[in-house]
Amino acid sequence: MIVVSHRGPYSFRAEPDGSFTARPGAGGLASALRPLLAEGATPGPDHADTGRNHWVAAAITDDDRAAVAAGAAHAEAIDLHLLALDPGVHGQHLDEVSNSVLWFLHHGLFDLPNEPSFGPEFRDAWDSYVAVNRTFADAAITCAEPGATVLVQDYQLALVAAMVGAERPDVRLSYFTHIPFCPPDWIGVLPDHVARDLCAAMAQVPCGFHTARWGDAYTASARRVLGPDARITPAFTSALGPDAAAIATVLDSDAAASARERLDAEVGERALIVRTDRLELSKNITRGFLAYDLLLEQHPEWRSRVVFAAMLYASRATLPAYVAYREQVEETVARVNERWSTADWQPIVLDTHDDYARSMAALERYDVLLVNAVRDGLNLVAKEGPLVNKRAGSVCLSREAGAFDELRAGVLEVQPFDLVQTAATMLHALEAPAAERTARAERLRALAAARTPQRWLDDLVRTAAPITR
Ligand code: G6P
Repeated sequence: MIVVSHRGPYSFRAEPDGSFTARPGAGGLASALRPLLAEGATPGPDHADTGRNHWVAAAITDDDRAAVAAGAAHAEAIDLHLLALDPGVHGQHLDEVSNSVLWFLHHGLFDLPNEPSFGPEFRDAWDSYVAVNRTFADAAITCAEPGATVLVQDYQLALVAAMVGAERPDVRLSYFTHIPFCPPDWIGVLPDHVARDLCAAMAQVPCGFHTARWGDAYTASARRVLGPDARITPAFTSALGPDAAAIATVLDSDAAASARERLDAEVGERALIVRTDRLELSKNITRGFLAYDLLLEQHPEWRSRVVFAAMLYASRATLPAYVAYREQVEETVARVNERWSTADWQPIVLDTHDDYARSMAALERYDVLLVNAVRDGLNLVAKEGPLVNKRAGSVCLSREAGAFDELRAGVLEVQPFDLVQTAATMLHALEAPAAERTARAERLRALAAARTPQRWLDDLVRTAAPITR
């Protein structure tokens, strides 16, 4: 089996003695798949491919590149193929196409009167996107044994599966997208040849999504772009679930124990609202704080009685939009804190360190977990929280997150653009009678535990098929 994803299972750190240490890579996808592949998961008895597990990914940091150059980019139990791409070409592929255009398009983040504007430089950037996808495809082709299963992941690599299939009709392919897919009215924002190349590539392979909503949007968009008679391989739905064993290990660690102590000191006997996200525009972080500000304004009885702990770790800091967003978030936090703080109470505690143990420890003790995304492929935090929470806490979940479709019976629904509704939902979560909260938390725990990384991987393997043309 071969997994192909932009971000790999490990990133490397150069040590003073010239050696390299492999550290688990960031991101939900890599964390979920890493243990499964390392355990030697195979496509199973019905399929021929029981060979070694390979993972093709990009070298992302300078240390990753140095590890590749030194021939030291190895991982235990997985054949790792880290690709040291030309930095200029890789930058265009990632920053200019994947993260500034495809991400924005599928998450509905464009401010359409002003952006995007596709000049000649975008044609070059698109060529780089194609070239990087070609490099990933070539690497997968090289390591694919006859009849292998190749599982391509996410929007950075939308063309790879079709490229592999064009040269290797023997291999079984699937392409899974972890983010939403834009509706047909938005796909026309892309230059026509880009929309056509994307949809034509995807149409040749089974395309997977976390929820049928995104699969339906993809199918409708592909129909709009390719025409009513085009042959489109049916899409499939398979939601990822949390890795309960991995989370339990983190919660057992010393790091989690000291995070718990710190939280105790910060929160004390007060109620706790938590959010933990990448510092990411689609997560709708600012509106979350504005809704909290409104709650404190309209309900003075809650002042001093609640703390909002926000764990937000830096992401995509090379993109100006993310730098500006971070500033906006920090300014909003400062304003809310300035408005309501007292001598012994700080309404928002913001932590921008990437500290997984602290995030998990906070999930154990939230009374309210806020996940108010503008749009989100799934949102794994909305499932991890209920799994580990010990206080019958409530999840206020955006209906625009893919996970909402599975969890709706156990969450409080958030309309992510409506501050009044969001504030009222958080207030209800804080004030609901204990019996209601307990019943909801129990229902939600069962829903959140229904899917596991192994079941998700099994679905991908089962659905993978040779290319259709
Ligand atoms: C999302 C995407 C992943 C991506 C991750 C982190 O979860 O679906 O493909 O790896 O964000 O983003 P980054 O740009 O840091 O890889």
